[in-house]
Amino acid sequence: MQKKDVVDVEVGGKRILLRVDFNVPLDMSTGAIKDDSRIRASLPTIKYLLDHRAKVILCSHLGRPGGRVDEGLRMKPVAQHLSQLINLTVDVAPDCVGSEVEERTRELREGSILLLENLRFHPEEEANKAWFARDLARLADIYVNDAFGTAHRAHASTVGVAKHLPAVAGFLMEKELVVMSELLGAPRRPFACVIGGAKVSDKMGLIQNMLRRVDILLIGGGMAATLLKAQGYEVGRSLVEDDRLDLARELLTDAREQKVAMLLPVDVLVAREIKAEAESEIVPIANIHPSSQIVDVGPETTELFSRQLVKCQMVMWNGPMGIYEIPRFSEGTRSLVRLLSTLTAITVVGGGSSADIVREMGLGEKMTHVSTGGGATLEFLEGATLPGVEALLDKM
Ligand code: 3PG
Repeated sequence: MQKKDVVDVEVGGKRILLRVDFNVPLDMSTGAIKDDSRIRASLPTIKYLLDHRAKVILCSHLGRPGGRVDEGLRMKPVAQHLSQLINLTVDVAPDCVGSEVEERTRELREGSILLLENLRFHPEEEANKAWFARDLARLADIYVNDAFGTAHRAHASTVGVAKHLPAVAGFLMEKELVVMSELLGAPRRPFACVIGGAKVSDKMGLIQNMLRRVDILLIGGGMAATLLKAQGYEVGRSLVEDDRLDLARELLTDAREQKVAMLLPVDVLVAREIKAEAESEIVPIANIHPSSQIVDVGPETTELFSRQLVKCQMVMWNGPMGIYEIPRFSEGTRSLVRLLSTLTAITVVGGGSSADIVREMGLGEKMTHVSTGGGATLEFLEGATLPGVEALLDKM
């Protein structure tokens, strides 16, 4: 069911509590924001509200302070950064609830903005305590949720508060839901998913859900080792989840039965150790030495995957193809990202580390959509209902 959005409510002159996901990576020594894409992604909603004479009260968590004030996780650097982006003063309230904060929200002028202090300085946020949600709601007339990245959390600022105020989606939330729903409901065909990452157990739900929807499923990353072993290959000292081998075999059978082309690496980069200076070599999957471990996909695999992907109308990618953090083991992932950036297909990057890599390579603009969610994107694509979405009003 589609959710009401910010255009469906009259915002002029109203106090709007806008939940954003400004959980951005910080440089802990300087306090500088290392990647502001989540802030930029909410700008359309913020600007719309300001342009429509709303009094904007932003709230977010930052990091995991565990319910206590952590000086390193105050919202001030975020406010300063946002202020530069929108060319408007953004003050930070002394807290996120309480009479002083309430007073500040009542003093707000139309078209002005206030950022509340880190929600997670209070344990009641994550515990979704009723009084805390009520106190947040006292600050506003309408609640707008643009924090797709936190929509999988049932917290006071994502779920509890929506019980007390008209609750609608912001433009970012809406865009994420439209793109992800198209992947699940009406993908353009041929539709391929490329799934990587370290462990098959982390992506089991995603693979199972996508198997029923895709035409092509390409698997890389450390998790390929478990699937290769399930097919009977020697994978040496690669990380294998032995307790998932039966499930891996089931996935391979499901793919066959559903006529999905499920492709695994045909060659891999192996190393004796997971170290930047470790000796490494490219080998066919039938020749993995018992003392080595898989650290990346090989060039033939990249070529094989490319031949599949250029045929597609829609591609979703989630998870690196190798140990991306070590530059010598990152070529499979980099080649994939470069290829995705050239495709004419709809390309969706499914959040988390995949989104970080795309941005780090400066290719975000070349993708159709780079999700701002990590865990939220994964859960949505696994088929789960996100509590932060569920809490919003349905469109009639
Ligand atoms: C994220 O970074 O995935 C979201 O901001 C949620 O953060 P959390 O995992 O700390 O709840």
